Formats: sequence, C-alpha cells, structure tokens
Amino acid sequence: MPAADERDLELLQAALKVMDNAHVLWGFKVGAAVLAEDGKTYEGCNVESWISGLGTCAERCAIDHAVLHGNRKIKKVAIVIEDKNVETTRPCGLCLQYIKDFSEDDSKVIMAKAKGGRILSESIETKTIEELMPFSYEMKQKALDSYIQS
Ligand code: THU
Repeated sequence: MPAADERDLELLQAALKVMDNAHVLWGFKVGAAVLAEDGKTYEGCNVESWISGLGTCAERCAIDHAVLHGNRKIKKVAIVIEDKNVETTRPCGLCLQYIKDFSEDDSKVIMAKAKGGRILSESIETKTIEELMPFSYEMKQKALDSYIQS
C-alpha cells in the first residue's frame, strides 16, 4: 500500500472543501478530487435524486469534471466522507469500475474520514485501484481503440 504524500493531502483537502456542496436528500455528503493527466485537480460531490439510482457519486462527478476538461486518464483520486457515516471510506462498486476505466493499474485511491471540517489523519488510507479491484471487467486496448475511432 503506497503512503500518503503532500500532493495526496492537498487532494484530500480539495475533496473536503467540495463535500459541503453535495446535494443530499436521503444519504450523506461525499467529496472527491482527482489529479488528472493534465496535472490539474478536478473536484466532485455526490448529487442525489428522489429517484433511487438516478443521482451520482462524488467520485464519478469528479471524473466527469476531469473528462469535460479534456482528460482521459487520472493519476489519483481522493475521497472524503464524514466520520459518523461510515466505518471506513471506500468507493462503491460502480465508482470502482469507473475509476478503473480512467486509471492506470498504479493509479492511487486516497480515502479519509472527516470530522468538524477536518481530515482525520489517522483515517487516511491509500490503495492502488488494482488493489481495490483486482479482477475487474476490462476490454482489450485494441477493441477500445476501434470504439474510440468509430
Ligand atoms: N456515495 C458516493 O458519493 N461515493 C461512494 O463511493 C459511495 C456512496 C454517495 C451516494 C449517496 O448519495 C450517498 O453517498 C450515500 O450512499
């Protein structure tokens, strides 16, 4: 498991900042921030709908934010959830697949809980996407290239 460095902590802070903007109707607030291939940070928060399954998670919101600015790969993703809501911070299964779709095998997932507007340093965990999702669905690059070009 890779350790959290300075840039990881900055990403966590960016995720924490946007967590406040989450649109929550029935769940709880989540913040995310990705470091994209262009070297910039793109944030996201969860957006809920009264129709179950229609909203989006913070991680996918952040990745979509990076994509709309022209990125297709992410190097890191940070996720922050309020301490009282989770035992440990983990992306859901849908988000794991989405992170994987836009990652390299060694792309880093940095997870932490927050309390009173601060990141709880003892809760910080880092994993590679490969560690979190070792047996994921993945198409061959050749097939992907022909989709993208068509
Ligand atoms: N949620 C996320 O934003 N990311 C995850 O990886 C897990 C769950 C959101 C979805 C929903 O709005 C709320 O957290 C409660 O599940």
